Amino acid sequence: MSNNKRVVVARLLLPAGRDLLEEKFDLVDGGLAATRDEVLALVPGADALVADPSVPVDEQLLEAAGDQLAVVANYAVGFDNIDLAACHEHGVIVTNTPEVLTNATAELAVTLTLSAARNTSDAERRLRRGEWTGWDPADFIGFELSGATIGVAGMGRIGQRYAELMSGFGGEILYTSREVKEGVEVKLGARKVEFEKLLEASDVVSLHLPSLPATRHIIDAVALARMKSSAVLVNTGRGSLVDSEALAEALESGTIGAAGLDVYENEPEVPRRLLEAPRTALTPHIGSATDRARDEMARLVALNVLAVLEGSAPPNPVSLE
Ligand code: DGY
Repeated sequence: MSNNKRVVVARLLLPAGRDLLEEKFDLVDGGLAATRDEVLALVPGADALVADPSVPVDEQLLEAAGDQLAVVANYAVGFDNIDLAACHEHGVIVTNTPEVLTNATAELAVTLTLSAARNTSDAERRLRRGEWTGWDPADFIGFELSGATIGVAGMGRIGQRYAELMSGFGGEILYTSREVKEGVEVKLGARKVEFEKLLEASDVVSLHLPSLPATRHIIDAVALARMKSSAVLVNTGRGSLVDSEALAEALESGTIGAAGLDVYENEPEVPRRLLEAPRTALTPHIGSATDRARDEMARLVALNVLAVLEGSAPPNPVSLE
């Protein structure tokens, strides 16, 4: 039975979460194709808003929603689409979906690492075009990961899981982090280093950093020039971490060896130069795209909304740092 609280899903929430909310609240959604104007038209009177990485939650949206808005539940672990300060000003709680997508995202980072290192994208492209002319001992020569030094930029949950999976290749693990991560140091023999050192010494650099003003274009032309000419860059974090033009240039000129990317600066746009760059494995922001992760994310969204609208503390609040 409805108690007339209104939950607005800006785009789409999978049934694992949606069903829990529909039992108790009036729920409306914008659908996957909802435009900004449509979302703005949907939010007035919302008690809860379910957003996702493609939905900017800013002052304009909060004002349009109105003072009753109690919670913005982001259907993602990252929350760079949300103006936390504005939410704080409006007294709106923000929540996210940590942990449940750690394995899925780390596994995609491993996939992209392998795919970029072995240049499967160019090889598959040629094969699909019918241009494969037979086994060639000198063609599509990749980079072997066994014994490779793996650089993990950002040792949060996903970075740690990636390090753990990549440790199977038997090479050294270097990492950057604000604090020493004793777990990975003891378990994997990982070593904390400065970012510059990580760039210079690693055969693979995988980015697991949040999108912040301080991390914007942390991989720029200068950083790329520091990397080995055989190095593989992997980004499953956020597009803003990498200067796409500089990366395209580095791939074209051979400044670095290869790249595996799941995220882009202005999604869903992908710069043409990156689409055409050699030795580049690309996926469309599918880090968390497994049944288990996406269902659990939807369920967490619902549990956070339920908690706030029923007057208790949500399980996954995001704090304004
Ligand atoms: C996240 O959760 O932040 C991902 O980018 C979407 O799954």
